[in-house]
Amino acid sequence: MPLLEVEGLVKRFVQRRPLRPTVEVHAVNDVSFTVGEGESFGLVGESGSGKTTAARCILRLTTPTAGEIRFDGEAIGSMSRHRLRTLRRAIQPVFQDPYESLNPRLPVGESVAEPLVVHRIGTAANRQARVEELLHQVGLDPTHLGRLPGELSGGQRQRIALARALALGPRLVVLDEPVSALDASVGAQIVNLLMRLQRDLGLALLFITHDLRLVRHMTARVAVMRAGRIVETAATPAVFAAPRHPYTRALLATAGMSSADGGDASEELESSEDMAPLREVASGHWARV
Ligand SMILES: Nc1ncnc2c1ncn2[C@@H]1O[C@H](COP(=O)(O)OP(=O)(O)O)[C@@H](O)[C@H]1O
Ligand SMILES: [Mg+2]
Repeated sequence: MPLLEVEGLVKRFVQRRPLRPTVEVHAVNDVSFTVGEGESFGLVGESGSGKTTAARCILRLTTPTAGEIRFDGEAIGSMSRHRLRTLRRAIQPVFQDPYESLNPRLPVGESVAEPLVVHRIGTAANRQARVEELLHQVGLDPTHLGRLPGELSGGQRQRIALARALALGPRLVVLDEPVSALDASVGAQIVNLLMRLQRDLGLALLFITHDLRLVRHMTARVAVMRAGRIVETAATPAVFAAPRHPYTRALLATAGMSSADGGDASEELESSEDMAPLREVASGHWARV
């Protein structure tokens, strides 16, 4: 059984604008995918394709319009408060901007300890030891504990956000553009740290990014999103070696990562079909073609 199952997820926003017609945005439109225990799964697509909205639904930061999300086989929409509390330990977010998870007025050691305090885990003394262990895991020394987020570099702040996410021993970490705000070399260090932690802790990752190179480096399977829909999904190497949807090909061409022949990706895209059902074009490789 997959750890996370997303089935037919829909999220619609109604945008009411002064003096203009009200519009409905289908931010996420019938999205389904699974993430296995310990697996790294990528959600890739351009800005506005619905990646963050999908993540927010999974993290229960917003209520889906339709569809079902199951964790460990259990629908999270119908969980009791008690079960949701457990779930909040098991699924942890890391955002692009660590300020979304770090209180700027709280020393970072306290931010890392906070989940332990909230969930009443350990005594003050062994919480302190746990926080130091977490800092060590993310490659920071304990001298940083008393600092405020504003006193750290962007990379250090993201390491602290990661330590906080790991505090409760999650099984799934949802990372939404975790290195997009960082310099390339700092981002690369965080990416390597993530891959090491994933392996060492057996973590499942839902890795969300607009960056195809990152997704190729980081994930075992990937789904390509366009305008709220998954247009293609397969094992990551298959998507990069033999992309089947014109949109995937166009993205790869734009990133300078085209496979052999290519052709005119943009022309092909003009006549492409997003509404076609996902079809299994090769074993485990699905595309709307
Ligand atoms: N709270 C909201 N209210 C209205 N529209 C929203 C809201 N959040 C996202 N959207 C719209 O939903 C679409 C998908 O956005 P988002 O999930 O942020 O995409 P991504 O993370 O892939 O850039 C966009 O058109 C965006 O404008
Ligand atoms: Mg986003």
